[in-house]
Amino acid sequence: MSKQEVILCEGLEKSLAQAIERCEHDRIFILTDEHTHTCCLPRLQQVSLLRNATEISIGAEDVHKTLDTLASVWMVLSQRGASRHSLLINLGGGMVTDLGGFAAATFKRGINYLNIPTTLLSMVDAAVGGKTGINFNGLKNEIGNFAPAACVLIETEFLRTLDDRNFFSGYAEMLKHGLISTPQHLQELLAFDTEQIDYALLKELVGRSVQVKENIVEQDPKEHGIRKALNLGHTFGHAFESLALAQERPVLHGYAVAWGLVCELYLSYIKSGFPREVMRQVVQFVKENYGSFAFNCQQYPTLYDLMKHDKKNQAGIINFTLLSDVGQICLDQTADRDTIFEAFDFYRECMGV
Ligand code: GLY
Repeated sequence: MSKQEVILCEGLEKSLAQAIERCEHDRIFILTDEHTHTCCLPRLQQVSLLRNATEISIGAEDVHKTLDTLASVWMVLSQRGASRHSLLINLGGGMVTDLGGFAAATFKRGINYLNIPTTLLSMVDAAVGGKTGINFNGLKNEIGNFAPAACVLIETEFLRTLDDRNFFSGYAEMLKHGLISTPQHLQELLAFDTEQIDYALLKELVGRSVQVKENIVEQDPKEHGIRKALNLGHTFGHAFESLALAQERPVLHGYAVAWGLVCELYLSYIKSGFPREVMRQVVQFVKENYGSFAFNCQQYPTLYDLMKHDKKNQAGIINFTLLSDVGQICLDQTADRDTIFEAFDFYRECMGV
């Protein structure tokens, strides 16, 4: 897999024009959703190279990350004469960059694509690292492949219009990057004033967060080893996300990851000696900013079963990434049912559920 270029833009229009010039293109297509069509596309319309581009707009949110939507994108590409040499620009959050990346990777066996993530979650996670895909048969990202964008262009000015919930959803992945990198990076994230956002500082933190992910993906693009570090918080997190969906009270991905971090730091503390004081600081941050996901002990077996079906497991054994300290990663860890239930107890006690 080739290395992906990621640009933290000083001016999106100029960086985008340069990125387009570097990619061969006979025709250009821009994939938007109903929000980015209105809020972000006008910025791209300033770029003269995009004057004749064809826009393909799809519904927003995860419910549209489907085979039908994917087919509708392939259909426009086909009907509007896209060739092996055409270029697709994905302008949106993780849903658009995942689905658009997969559409590009599969159309005529693969065309070039650029990602322009517009949410914090997609800037620091989804749009970077080459994972593409759609949901299928009720399972998230069930169909997909590894296919890096030719370039990812990050314009943090788009964050000025992000609502609080989407800000915190992305910030959870930044906290995860802090936990798997250095104590200094983590402390900067914990100290960031989320009420009075300093956008210049946020841009710096986004840049550092993306670097953490890029370094890991470069070493292990297809997740055979160290890339599993990026799963910290996600084993419990995906179970919370799935239970919430099943109970028709869906939560944003990053919120589930934040709650998952609480449980997985507890496992890290009891199994790998993660420092108690750092765990306390992260738990406090999550409690203050993410509220809590309510469940009772009758739901522990359901959550446990959901964890057993996680696609990261092998032979039905639940796989965790844990930490022995900030930046000290322990891959392929396991925990028995009683210990996992103890982590649920810890979560409920400290989050006041
Ligand atoms: N979102 C985790 C990864 O890209 O590996």
